[in-house]
Amino acid sequence: MKESSDINVYTSNAGFKWVVLAISVIISAGSVIYTNILVKQIREREKKQIDLYAKTLEYLANENDAVNIFLILENIIQANNTIPVILADQNGNPEFYKNLPGADKLEDPKERKLFLMDEIASMKSEREPIMVTLSDQEKRIYGYKYIYYRNSLLLTQLKYYPYVQLSIIAIFGLITFAVFNYSRTAEQNRVWVGLAKETAHQLGTPLSSLMAWVEYLKMNYPDDKEVYNELNKDVDRLSMITERFSSIGSVPQLKEENVYQHIREVATYLERRISSKVTMEIESIPNDQVYAAINTSLFAWVIENLIKNAVDAMEGKGYIYVRIIKAKDQQVTIDITDTGKGISKSNVGQIFKPGFSTKKRGWGLGLALTKRIIENYHNGRIFVKSTEAGKGTTFRIVLKS
Ligand SMILES: Nc1ncnc2c1ncn2[C@@H]1O[C@H](COP(=O)(O)OP(=O)(O)OP(=O)(O)O)[C@@H](O)[C@H]1O
Ligand SMILES: [Mg+2]
Repeated sequence: MKESSDINVYTSNAGFKWVVLAISVIISAGSVIYTNILVKQIREREKKQIDLYAKTLEYLANENDAVNIFLILENIIQANNTIPVILADQNGNPEFYKNLPGADKLEDPKERKLFLMDEIASMKSEREPIMVTLSDQEKRIYGYKYIYYRNSLLLTQLKYYPYVQLSIIAIFGLITFAVFNYSRTAEQNRVWVGLAKETAHQLGTPLSSLMAWVEYLKMNYPDDKEVYNELNKDVDRLSMITERFSSIGSVPQLKEENVYQHIREVATYLERRISSKVTMEIESIPNDQVYAAINTSLFAWVIENLIKNAVDAMEGKGYIYVRIIKAKDQQVTIDITDTGKGISKSNVGQIFKPGFSTKKRGWGLGLALTKRIIENYHNGRIFVKSTEAGKGTTFRIVLKS
């Protein structure tokens, strides 16, 4: 396989894309893993903090029952202004809480109690509560208390932080990519259009001079009719090529044309130039009056490119079948099928890129131009409908009529 080395900038981009993608996946994974480690550490620390409350509470309760443990607990817990915690008796009745703004808002003690009991249930499902054993100085146990708690807001935020961060980066990346892609497309457009305009312009001068010479021949050498006729054909062909370039270089006019008729003409022109071992058949469904809005000089270029590729793929021997169908939804579908060597799976995605060719003398511009003409100038679609190694290929064009 050969790719013209001078214009393969578009294809060589593909590898670079994968490298960028791989690096971003590694960075993302790293960020998530690192934050998870942080979350684990903070979680441990929060647990230790609550454990400390529990131990202090136990100690105070055991050492001196005269002390108002709630007062002390409040003082200790005061230091904690992040971890939501509820102290409850052994029957699950809340006695004291901290860092629950939802409960602070409720004025009615009954409502508040219900709220706290709900919280207890949800905290219990997240983390096991810490049990505090209350005993007197003789070490006689006289009760239990439970400390329910959950992750601090900080910890929760940290847990979701990498995902939020990565989403923002992803959105930013997508926007950058879109802008980059847009400017690259705009640049390509300028090159195509500029080059085509310039070519049409440069061909114009010798062409009109040639036309004048043909007229001169016709008038002064009326006997050399054959020479004159052949020359005239070539001049016509040249002016058709000029017309194509000039159409590509400007906004082309689309006109409702009989697609079948037009393709027939192009095929007749080509048939004379390709091997007689290639047979061509054109069918139009439901009849040969299928109309679509096309620019004839550009559309002829498309059909020519596709048929030439088909002939190349069959190495000069085989069968080309063109089927034109007008569907109920007014769409016109044109299938061009050959019995050539087919396109390999890995190449199917590449063939429309400028510069991609598997031929010794190919520029790899035929299909790029074809796609441009169909999509940009006719607002249609073109794609490989099917292809099989050694059996053949079908290209499909879809036009709106
Ligand atoms: N009908 C087909 N069957 C098999 N392969 C095809 C067919 N049409 C195109 N290809 C493959 O797609 C490649 C690109 O086609 P394209 O027309 O863009 O360039 P090319 O024919 O190689 O060169 P150029 O048209 O510029 O002279 C071809 O080289 C060929 O490998
Ligand atoms: Mg080609």
